Formats: sequence, C-alpha cells, structure tokens
Amino acid sequence: MTTNAPLALDRRTGWPADLRVLLDQHPRKTWPGHPNLGALCRFWLERHAMFRELARALAAGAEALRQGKVDAAEFQPWFAPRMRFFLQQLHHHHLIEDHNYFPLFIAAEKRLVRGFQVLEADHGVIDADIHELGAASDGLLSALRRPTADLPGATAALGGRLPGFSRKLDRHLDDEEDLIIPLILERSEAALGVG
Ligand SMILES: [Fe+2]
Ligand SMILES: [Fe+2]
Repeated sequence: MTTNAPLALDRRTGWPADLRVLLDQHPRKTWPGHPNLGALCRFWLERHAMFRELARALAAGAEALRQGKVDAAEFQPWFAPRMRFFLQQLHHHHLIEDHNYFPLFIAAEKRLVRGFQVLEADHGVIDADIHELGAASDGLLSALRRPTADLPGATAALGGRLPGFSRKLDRHLDDEEDLIIPLILERSEAALGVG
C-alpha cells in the first residue's frame, strides 16, 4: 500500500497516466451518447450526482444555521432526515461497490487494479468521516433540543467538517467514474457481468 500513498484521497488531483489508459480512449465528453452507457451506468451516475448535491445542500444548511438565517424549528425537520439518508445511503453504496462490483472490474482489467485499491482505501477514509459526521450531527440535533446547550459549538463542530468532506467526496466520485465508466464503455455491462 506504501506505493499508493501519493494517491491518497487528500493528496491526489486525479489519476496518473498508467490509470488513465482507458479514460484517454473514452474521455468524459464521449460518455453521454455512447451505446455501452447502459442502465447500470446511468443509475450509478445519478446516485453519485445525488450524493454530491446532498453534501452541498447539507453544508449550506449548516452554514445558514450558523449565520442565523434559519431557526432551529425550521432547520431540525429539514436537516435530520436528509443527513440520516445521506450517511446511510453513502455507506451502503460503498459496501455494494467493494463487495459486488469492484471484484468483477479487478478480474476484468489487471491494468486498473491499483486504481481499485485506491478507491477501496478512499471508502475507508470516507466511512471514518461518515462516523464522525453522524456523531457531530447527533450532537447538533441534541443541542437544538436543549435550551442550555452550546448550540454555536455544536453547529461549528458539524459545519466545520462538511465542506472538507464534500471536497473529498467529489474527488472520490470523479476518480471512481473516470476509472469505471471507460472500462464499461470498452467492454459493455453485459460482458463485465453487471448488466
Ligand atoms: Fe466509491
Ligand atoms: Fe460510487
């Protein structure tokens, strides 16, 4: 794993040349009309778009609370179900990728194995963040219910984490798409056993 250190989630800015072999043949602008962009690809890209959007919305909501633009009574019923859904779905999404999809992709394309090791390591980093965000979110929701609680402290504890988390998540999702979509376009979902 030492050799993958430069590709750690908080350090890399995209894939190195050896992991761009298929991306160079299938750049993003060719994806939308490609005949091999099947139902799974479309569903999976939509899930990624939803995670990006939810991460931004939750960060913006926490910032609005910090600035006093929304009050607790308005914030709590908006925030609580969205945060719970976001963290649970993202964790579940990682489990499916690690156990159901990555093994098929690794078996199909040995040149990209290192990329999948990096993505699996990302999941570990993001899952630790999910745990921390869950605790900070519970702390904020509990502070919102108690008039004597340190609400500014609880708001900052959550709000301070969300923008950095969103940046890491964007990096992971972009790189994951750049590794997997070109592979599927090259081989097809059916040939890879995911269609
Ligand atoms: Fe992932
Ligand atoms: Fe993903």
